[in-house]
Amino acid sequence: MRILFLGDIVGRPGRHAVKKHLADIRAAEGADLVLANGENASGGLGLSAEGAKELFNAGLDGMTSGNHIWKFKDMPSYMQREERLIRPANYPPGTPGRGLAVLRLPGKPPVAMLNLMGRTYMQPLDCPFRAADALLAQLDAEHPDVRIRILDFHAEATSEKISLGWHLDGRISAVLGTHTHVQTNDARLLHHGTAYLTDLGMCGPLDSCLGMSVAPILRKFLTAAPERFEVAGGPVALCGAILDIDETTGQATHIRAWRFNIA
Ligand SMILES: [Fe+2]
Ligand SMILES: [Fe+2]
Repeated sequence: MRILFLGDIVGRPGRHAVKKHLADIRAAEGADLVLANGENASGGLGLSAEGAKELFNAGLDGMTSGNHIWKFKDMPSYMQREERLIRPANYPPGTPGRGLAVLRLPGKPPVAMLNLMGRTYMQPLDCPFRAADALLAQLDAEHPDVRIRILDFHAEATSEKISLGWHLDGRISAVLGTHTHVQTNDARLLHHGTAYLTDLGMCGPLDSCLGMSVAPILRKFLTAAPERFEVAGGPVALCGAILDIDETTGQATHIRAWRFNIA
């Protein structure tokens, strides 16, 4: 089975690029399933119910998120209803939504989509390593038929990301990083069938700072004055990874970082 996983979709430029090109990309790459991180898709920070619906209508099969997911007031109730959208599983008990979804598409093998957040240089949530163990145990108990398991690890520190990759090697099909918005050049198979990439990169404006306009961010770095950030314009790149996974074992057989430039 071939899966395309897109990194953080940023603002309207990212959403529109996905809407316009996803069907062609899916066909050209032969992707059976397309997943994405949507935490920045509405206004650059957060995801509204409307933005999420727009992306599902564009053809995404599932969406993960991260630290900005609660920015819009309608998201908690929307997430309770929409099982294809998940949030990091290591938020404390009682947080709305789920950190795990089993996607069952007609004619395709079922796929478990998992989401965790790092806690190095981030909000201190529950331990993502223990939470990953618990999620896999839950899958084994409740969905033993689901061999394909894909994790979006939304984290800042490269050390935490690769450590979780090694921790889960052989127990999960892929550990893919998001949140830093810059694609890394380390796509590989670990030793026991887990595909790994430290960061998928973003789907958003190229001439930007992580998708946002450069000038206010530069002023913020150069002075101590507060600034209002806005989504940048100009050319867009879609970034992610393409995974090939053996349906019977759930082991990844190939991963490559993927990028699509739009003028
Ligand atoms: Fe992000
Ligand atoms: Fe993030």
